[in-house]
Amino acid sequence: MHILGIETSCDDTGVAIYSHEAGLLSCALHSQTALHAQYGGVVPELASRDHLSKLLPLVQQTLVESGLTSKDIDGIAYTAGPGLMGALLVGAAFAKSLGHAWAVPTLGIHHMEGHLLAVMLEEHRPTFPFLALLVSGGHTMLVAVEGVGRYQILGETRDDAVGEAFDKTAKLLGLPYPGGAELAALAITGDPSRFYFPRPMLDKPGLDFSFSGLKTAVLHTVRAQPIVDQQTKADIARAFEDAVVETLWRKCERALKKTGFTRLVVAGGVGANQALRQQLQIGMSKRGGELFFPRSVFCTDNGAMIAYAGCLRFQARQQDETLEIQIKPRWSLEDLSA
Ligand code: KG4
Ligand code: ZN
Repeated sequence: MHILGIETSCDDTGVAIYSHEAGLLSCALHSQTALHAQYGGVVPELASRDHLSKLLPLVQQTLVESGLTSKDIDGIAYTAGPGLMGALLVGAAFAKSLGHAWAVPTLGIHHMEGHLLAVMLEEHRPTFPFLALLVSGGHTMLVAVEGVGRYQILGETRDDAVGEAFDKTAKLLGLPYPGGAELAALAITGDPSRFYFPRPMLDKPGLDFSFSGLKTAVLHTVRAQPIVDQQTKADIARAFEDAVVETLWRKCERALKKTGFTRLVVAGGVGANQALRQQLQIGMSKRGGELFFPRSVFCTDNGAMIAYAGCLRFQARQQDETLEIQIKPRWSLEDLSA
């Protein structure tokens, strides 16, 4: 079974082909970062238009790279939500039209299920059940994963997502959008003892997160500095990253205790953060547990995770029942069926 996967939920156009027998055959990505950078954030209308112009060339590219033709494709999986309405509509309409033209079934996939299962594209992958820490630009959650489609959200952010906090802090420090990865690079040269930021919600029980206060703490600190030179920026970046990493790990620890799980998966764009991975690795080793993560290009948005999730669901005989385009800009992981 060969599944074409299409991801257009935000500002990355991702296309990939996954084979049930042979694994991932090809994967192509067009990032819109340069397009949106001048506006300091994603401009939804520009994102939709750009997806539209990139999808067909990317599909052609993945077919060529995998040595297949359209006749070899057995199904098309696309991101149906959550995400930007226009961007999702473009991907869904494109996938459904292509499915109709090629006479193959289509299936809408939950973007966060894609992130959650991306780790299965790696050789070092977990068995069920596991705890997943999903940290992206739009989401921050801890999920108990009992199997495909069996997800229980244990905790979520009450305000900003971690990636959003990274991006907003990066902006405060004058770094270009999206900023998360650049802030992390800057933090490497930062002095960890110069500033200290609060670890949000660690003093309260439960597994929810809150990151908007942290961003405000950074803002006050930046304003209080007589000169914000390069070293000061690096020191602030380091203190911010340390606060985020410690907060995320402490919540993971709580969730591991609560569930009794011994396997932890970190995924989503912020899952590419090296300091976070290091802390989770150390913490899991101390507990005698194991950490799993997708390679960095599969932490951020990509088509491979959608093709993979689609393949599992097509194998379970799921598919769209009508030609009607149905997207869900807001959609809970817990609403998915097994
Ligand atoms: O999963 P993703 O590609 O898109 C969403 O679904 O949101 O995540 C993008 C987020 C952005 O906020 C970006 O700044 C952040 O992931 N990010 C990072 C790193 N790489 C990407 N944050 C911290 N450290 C990184 N190395
Ligand atoms: Zn994402």
